[in-house]
Amino acid sequence: MSKVKVPSGFMIGAALSAYQVEGNNVNADWWHYEGDRLPRSGSACDFWNRYRSDIELAASLGLKALRISIAWDRIMPSEGKVDDESMDRYVDMIKEIRGHGMEPIITLHHFVNPMWFTVKGGWVKEDNVKYFLDFVKYVVDSVGDSVKFWLTINEINLYPILAYLLGVFPPFMMNMEYMWRALVNLLKASDGAYELIKKPSNQVGLIIHIMPAKPASRLSIMDWGLAVGMNYILNRMIVNTLAKGKLPDWLSGGEVGELDYVGLNYYAIAKVKFNPLTMGELVTSRQNQRGWVINPSGLRWAIRLVRRIGKPIMITENGIATDNDEDRITYIEKHLTIAIKERVMGYLYWSLLDNYEWEMGYGAKFGLIACDPVTLSRRPRGSAYFLGKLASGG
Ligand code: BGC
Repeated sequence: MSKVKVPSGFMIGAALSAYQVEGNNVNADWWHYEGDRLPRSGSACDFWNRYRSDIELAASLGLKALRISIAWDRIMPSEGKVDDESMDRYVDMIKEIRGHGMEPIITLHHFVNPMWFTVKGGWVKEDNVKYFLDFVKYVVDSVGDSVKFWLTINEINLYPILAYLLGVFPPFMMNMEYMWRALVNLLKASDGAYELIKKPSNQVGLIIHIMPAKPASRLSIMDWGLAVGMNYILNRMIVNTLAKGKLPDWLSGGEVGELDYVGLNYYAIAKVKFNPLTMGELVTSRQNQRGWVINPSGLRWAIRLVRRIGKPIMITENGIATDNDEDRITYIEKHLTIAIKERVMGYLYWSLLDNYEWEMGYGAKFGLIACDPVTLSRRPRGSAYFLGKLASGG
């Protein structure tokens, strides 16, 4: 018996992203660098062909919501070209999710761009925002009113850091100015998307990732300094901007941040340690195949920080990468309890399926459902039944 008490109307489901599960997104920038700087994704979970049975399985577990993303690289494989057949498939996915009694939650940008967009300078150029908006307009016209919950950009604060400051995601830049420019342009893209999508009948949000940073040693002033810096760049800067609806003056001071709700992705805290050679590093933990330090109270801190924005909050991702499913159940139990106490709108576990974990390839098992990367067989874990039961009030 679980100790978690789920209030009626509290939405529980799971999340996925196109590139990580569909397979063969050959026109994506990420695909272009695979084999060279990144592990190969290949067929991923072949969700592109198996989505119907996966959606059916998710619903049969009792889940009430499924977050998916629409791959811009499939819809606009080359500049000026639109692939209607791919769009039809996404329309069908949404129909299937609804048809199985789940709420479809749609993300429009999840870390990946069409290669042609990246060649044009990607998110560093303000002029490029219009290409994303062409895609959004086409999707909105195709999908109509079948979607209530939209999310414009996944992790609008973390993605520019990974792609333009730390150089771990395409286009592998390490340039602070580019990072800020990309953030500003993504915020503009999100606002443009909001204008295109917004109707009285829907809710449009964007997603931020909060990872509270703490000093590895409370006695080290250098560790403290790093934690304060990381908290500002990753967590506080975006929250302040969205709370004020305005960029800081040193970043143009323009108005940004139209949204009806905030998607919050929370996984772990960061324990930062000064290192004279690399500046800083994160203390790792073996509890999680990603090395992250698990700390459920960090979710409370994150929710309270994000609450300053003044909008309802949905937990759009929360999960653990482990082969130990008992640990996954404990993780869900602890985080879900906090999410409910803090009165968020809903909770989506990352992820429905084991999938392609970006620069880690298939090495991190986040799934409620095990997906074998070779045979592609699906096997729901105990945690899938556990969360499904809570979701369906059973
Ligand atoms: C991303 C997911 C990713 C997960 C686990 C989030 O930052 O949105 O795409 O798989 O973290 O690393």
